Amino acid sequence: MINFDYQTPTRLVFGKGVVNEKLASVMQQYGPRVLVTYGGGSIKRVAPGHEKSLYEEVMDVLKGSEVYELPGIQPNPKFDPSVLEGVRLCQEHHVDVILSVGGGSVLDCTKAIAGVAGTLEGKVYDHIEEAWDIVCGRKPTTAAVPIVDIITMAATGSEYDMCGVISRTETNDKLPYFARQAFPAVSFIDPTYTFTVPVKQTLAGVSDCINHIMESYFCGEHIDMNDAFMEGAIKSLVKNVKVVLDNPEDYNARAEIFYATTLGCNGIYCLGNSNGGWPMHSMEHALSAYYDITHGEGLAIITPRWMKHILDNTEGELHNQVVERIEKFGHQVFGTEGCEASIQAIHDFYREIGIPMTLPEVGIDSSRLAEMAKHVADTEHLDKAWVPLLEGDILKIFESCMA
Ligand code: NZQ
Ligand code: ZN
Repeated sequence: MINFDYQTPTRLVFGKGVVNEKLASVMQQYGPRVLVTYGGGSIKRVAPGHEKSLYEEVMDVLKGSEVYELPGIQPNPKFDPSVLEGVRLCQEHHVDVILSVGGGSVLDCTKAIAGVAGTLEGKVYDHIEEAWDIVCGRKPTTAAVPIVDIITMAATGSEYDMCGVISRTETNDKLPYFARQAFPAVSFIDPTYTFTVPVKQTLAGVSDCINHIMESYFCGEHIDMNDAFMEGAIKSLVKNVKVVLDNPEDYNARAEIFYATTLGCNGIYCLGNSNGGWPMHSMEHALSAYYDITHGEGLAIITPRWMKHILDNTEGELHNQVVERIEKFGHQVFGTEGCEASIQAIHDFYREIGIPMTLPEVGIDSSRLAEMAKHVADTEHLDKAWVPLLEGDILKIFESCMA
């Protein structure tokens, strides 16, 4: 077991009705100037079991505060305009706290806003490259505006981690912003808000979380307790996503999914494991940067192809490790025997629940595969991953996703 040093400062407030019960007392701990960030309008619809939309519930709580709003944050949130505009609002109005209301994209964008606004000296539109340097880690985050969030999608685990993934359109970059200061102070997680999540996004969220766990499960050094923890979480997701497909308002199934996704990206599933290098996410981020596809769909497409590639292209001790991981994964999660059956099982599961499983199905043709493979090889350090991937390997994996 590898040494670890773990701390998550985020308070999780989980369950039915928690926003109405506790948001007001949490917000009172901060000053009066609040920036509310949100997406394209899902928070303005009334979720089953609620009398008002989440937006109205939040505005009721914030009566008496000085409220500024940053609406319109898109999936795969953009540095320009969303991060820049959010920083401008924080600077102009001396915002005390940011309340993020929405999915992982809204929260990721909020983290970048908070860190850039806290660190940047000078007005953001005069220092755009410096702001980008903070986002991609070339310049350290030294402070951040505090973040409270109400997370409305079970997917990224952004509500319990210190990462925010930001896209910069003009350079086709989609990069993780990491800063300890970007951990949310308090995350509200009420599964009833996910009753309205469209099927496509529900499935993508489950696939995202399964992949977060797989990125931690597939590594060279691992421990029994973590294996059990991760296998259990994926089994819960596999079971409960089918329940939700039948009944989108099944509270317990939605809650089980949210519990797994909230812990999914925080590292708590894999304390003491070595790091596999996150190869599937590194490859997917190129797909969603170049084509703006849904992250969880890209991951589902890549997953079985990456497993097959590392099975066929390793030898010696590394190959033995790969075989052991793939076999155990399939056996524990799907009850399969052997590597090929394990890989087929995860592919079939995604197909069965309705996720598109080839790149053409999500609108990607072969014209830019080589360019994306080079971009990943140049920026993601996958040559250092548990199973190293060079540009040629990445291209082969992309090509195998075509059919
Ligand atoms: O914009 P609105 O109108 O709010 O609609 C959103 C959006 O269209 C909608 N939605 C969210 N909650 C809803 C809802 N619709 C109905 N009812 C609700 N309760 O769903 C759509 C997708 O939302 P988005 O926030 O983009 O989804 P998700 O939470 O999956 O976030 C995806 C982003 O997170 C990044 C991904 O790369 C992607 O950019 N990731 C962040 C990570 C992290 N912070 O640690 C790790 C992940 O690996 C991932 O890379
Ligand atoms: Zn992910």
